[in-house]
Amino acid sequence: MSDPRNRKGTHTSTNESVSSDALVVFGVMGDLANKKVLPALYQMVKSGNLNVPIIGVAKAGRSDEHLKDRSRESVKQHIPKVDEAALAKFLGLLHYVGGDYGDRNTFQLLKKALGSSKSPAHYLAIPPDLFISVVESLAQADCLKNARVIVEKPFGHDLASAEKLNAALRAVLPESGIFRIDHYLGKETVLNLLFFRFANSFLEPIWNRNYVESVQITMAEQFGVEGRGSFYDANGAIRDVIQNHMLQVVGFLAMEPPAGIHADSIRDEQVKVFRTIPPLDPKRVVRGQFQGYKKEEGVAPNSTVETYAAVRLQINSWRWSGVPFLIRAGKCLPVTSTQVLVNLRKPPLESIAGDSSNSFVFNLGPGELSISLNAQVKRPGPAMTSMPAKLTAVESQAADEVDAYVRLLGDAMRGDAMLFVREDAVEAAWAVVDPILGNISPVHEYKPGMWGPSQADSLAVDVGGWHNPEAESEVAAKSA
Ligand code: BG6
Repeated sequence: MSDPRNRKGTHTSTNESVSSDALVVFGVMGDLANKKVLPALYQMVKSGNLNVPIIGVAKAGRSDEHLKDRSRESVKQHIPKVDEAALAKFLGLLHYVGGDYGDRNTFQLLKKALGSSKSPAHYLAIPPDLFISVVESLAQADCLKNARVIVEKPFGHDLASAEKLNAALRAVLPESGIFRIDHYLGKETVLNLLFFRFANSFLEPIWNRNYVESVQITMAEQFGVEGRGSFYDANGAIRDVIQNHMLQVVGFLAMEPPAGIHADSIRDEQVKVFRTIPPLDPKRVVRGQFQGYKKEEGVAPNSTVETYAAVRLQINSWRWSGVPFLIRAGKCLPVTSTQVLVNLRKPPLESIAGDSSNSFVFNLGPGELSISLNAQVKRPGPAMTSMPAKLTAVESQAADEVDAYVRLLGDAMRGDAMLFVREDAVEAAWAVVDPILGNISPVHEYKPGMWGPSQADSLAVDVGGWHNPEAESEVAAKSA
C-alpha cells in the first residue's frame, strides 16, 4: 500500500518551522515588483518582520545602487508616509545579482551571493514561461536545499501545463516547499468570508440549498489592460482571474467547515469544492471584449481574447446541489468593485413578503469591507405591505490591516502554507475551466463603461438578473 503521506497535497518536508534566512526576488526590476513586492518588503522591514538579506535578480548590467534607487522610488510612489529609518534599513538589506535566466552562470553568482544562507526563499515574480527553467537551474546550482519557492500566478496556462509545472517543481522540492500565490487568498476582505461564515452560528443553518437560491460574484474593473497588453492577450479574463481569484472566492463561500484554522484543514475543504464543480459548459459562458482592446499595445489586431467573461456553474455537493453560482469579471466596466451577492429564497407568505427576497451582499474591495443584509420590513403607514431595508456593517480600512503581499510573503518565509494554493487545488481549478479556454465561443464587443455584452443577461434570467455593484463614491455618498 502506498504511504498516505505521499498523497498530493500533504507535507513531506521537515523544514516547516524554520524561517527563511534570505529572500531571493527574481524579476526585481519588473512591474509586479515595483507595484507590489518592493513596497510590501519595505512594510515587512518596517514592522520588524523581515531582517534577512534580500537578493534581487534581474538582467545584467545594473548595480546594487541601481536596485536601491529603484526600490526607494517604488516605496515612495506606493506608500503614503514613508519612515526614512525603515527605508534605509530596507535598502541596506538589498543586493543585486544580474544575468540571464537561461545562463547557468547567473545561478552560480546567486549561490555565491547567498553565502552562508541555509534556508533561502526564492520568489519567482517573472513571466510564467521561465518558471520551470529557473527552478531547474536553482536545483543544479544547489540553491534549493531547505529552500522555499514562491510562485506567482498564472500557475500554468491550462490543466496540462499546470500538471507539467507541478511535476517540474515536485521533482526538485517537496510540496511543503512550494508556495503558489493567489493574492486574493491574502486579502482581509476575502478571509473575512471565512469568519463571517464560521464565526457566526446564525448563518450555518441557512447556508445551503434549502435557503440559498443563487450566488453571484462580480469582479468589475473600471480600467483596461494598463500597458499589460501582451501578457493579457496571452491569457484573457478566464485565465487571468476566474480560474484563480474568483474560484478561490467560491471556495470560501461554499466550503464545509474546516477542522481548524491551519493549512491542510482549510485547503482540504477548498479542493473538495473545486472537485465538486463539473467542468464548465461552453454554452454557459459568455465572453466579451471591450471596444478598442485590439488597438492596445501588445494585443493582436485580430485578437479574440476575452476581457470579460460570465460563467454559470454548479456545485454538485449535498449542500449546494441545484444552486446556481454565477461569476462575471471584466475590464473597462462602469466601476471597480468586487462583490458577492447571496440571494436567499423567498418566504412563502407573499401577502406579507411581497415579491422581494432577502440577500447578503459582501463587498470585497477595493476600499472598505462591507456586509449587507437586504431584509424586508413593514412599510410605515396604513397599508400592510413590506418594503426593503438594508442592514450594513462597514469596516473602513483598519489601521492594522495587512496588505495581501505583506501577509503572503511573511507566511511563505515562515513556512505557513495555509493561504497558498495546493498542488491538487490548482489542478482541480484548471479542470473546471479547461473546456472554456481559448476561442470556444463567440466574443461579443462591449462599449467601455458598460456592464459587458448584453448576451450575458441570458445566464442570469432565472435568478433575477445580474446585480451591479455601485461605485465606491456612490456608496460613500449614501452613507455620508
Ligand atoms: C491580477 C490580475 O491577478 O489581479 C489583474 O492579473 C487584476 O488583471 C488584478 O487587475 C486584480 O487584483 P486586485 O487586488 O486589484 O483586485
